[in-house]
Amino acid sequence: QKPIYILGIESSCDDTSAAVICNRKVLSNIVANQEVHAKYGGVVPELASRAHQQNIVPVVQQAIEQAGITKEDLSAIAFTKGPGLMGSLLVGTSFAKSLALGLDIPLIDVNHMQAHILAHFIEEEDAKIPPFPFVCLTISGGHTQIVKITNHFEMEVLGETIDDAVGEAFDKSAKILGLPYPGGPLIDKYAKQGNPKAFKFTKPRVGDLEFSFSGLKTGILYFIQKNVKENPDFIKENLYDICASIQHTIIEILMDKLKNVVKQTGIKHIAIAGGVSANSEIRKRLQQAEKHWGWTTYIPKFEYTTDNAAMIAITGYLKYLNKTYSDVSVTAQARLKV
Ligand code: KG4
Ligand code: ZN
Repeated sequence: QKPIYILGIESSCDDTSAAVICNRKVLSNIVANQEVHAKYGGVVPELASRAHQQNIVPVVQQAIEQAGITKEDLSAIAFTKGPGLMGSLLVGTSFAKSLALGLDIPLIDVNHMQAHILAHFIEEEDAKIPPFPFVCLTISGGHTQIVKITNHFEMEVLGETIDDAVGEAFDKSAKILGLPYPGGPLIDKYAKQGNPKAFKFTKPRVGDLEFSFSGLKTGILYFIQKNVKENPDFIKENLYDICASIQHTIIEILMDKLKNVVKQTGIKHIAIAGGVSANSEIRKRLQQAEKHWGWTTYIPKFEYTTDNAAMIAITGYLKYLNKTYSDVSVTAQARLKV
């Protein structure tokens, strides 16, 4: 059978990414991070769309080149339709449409949140592929969801956040500590040298499968303000312990919810996805859950956790097999359900 080559394009937030896969194998996965946002302490939508506009052509060219193919070899083009920032999505959408029209090949729209989950179906040496049904905890800068996956395209959100996403909890806590955006990876790094039990923060009281992080953020803010008032060097002197304690609280919340969903559904195949699944503590805790509770856990390879186009391409591949193509009238959608 002829190999299928899919080009994936991702531009939903602040990373411009393009990837080429051959069947389920990733041949290239180029990600251009936008440095421009760091000094603003968060993503500035207008600047993000402009940077995508500058990045998209070279990033796509590089992805095709690195894959060792030519654009004429492509079987279809998959792109992120949503959810995300409208201006950012429009760049990828328009580009994907034009290229598909020019090459006269199918165009496939992809839901970014589904793609984070379907990244688990990328073929990798020693990567486990989850069997159906499985449960995925999707944790990113914009979303926090527990999803039951019945087959590649049948997904049900069993619970989600009622306010902030878990990535925001990391990033906003980091901001309170004066760390640059995005602070999640820095909290992870500093936490490795700190005591997770040094400080105690209150966990929210919400439904069994619901999340809430805005109260935690306020709690951390008050805690820091109070201590800095007494000792202006409080953050500097305790940075590692503060980061470890914040991270410990957040990960405890996530693990509690996973225990609840296993209890409710009886499903013990547990996956994580999204940017926060890069966090070393959640990865470690899931591995321990295999031993302690008999779960089988699925942890994505590091490069498929934060936003990337390989996950868009694999979703495109699965839809291609299903012949689920889009028409050229398809448009970007800032809000899009799983
Ligand atoms: O999935 P993603 O790349 O973009 C969205 O779709 O939102 O997720 C980005 C989020 C940011 O909030 C970032 O701080 C967080 O993932 N993140 C981490 C780590 N790496 C990325 N949070 C905690 N620990 C990490 N190691
Ligand atoms: Zn994402």
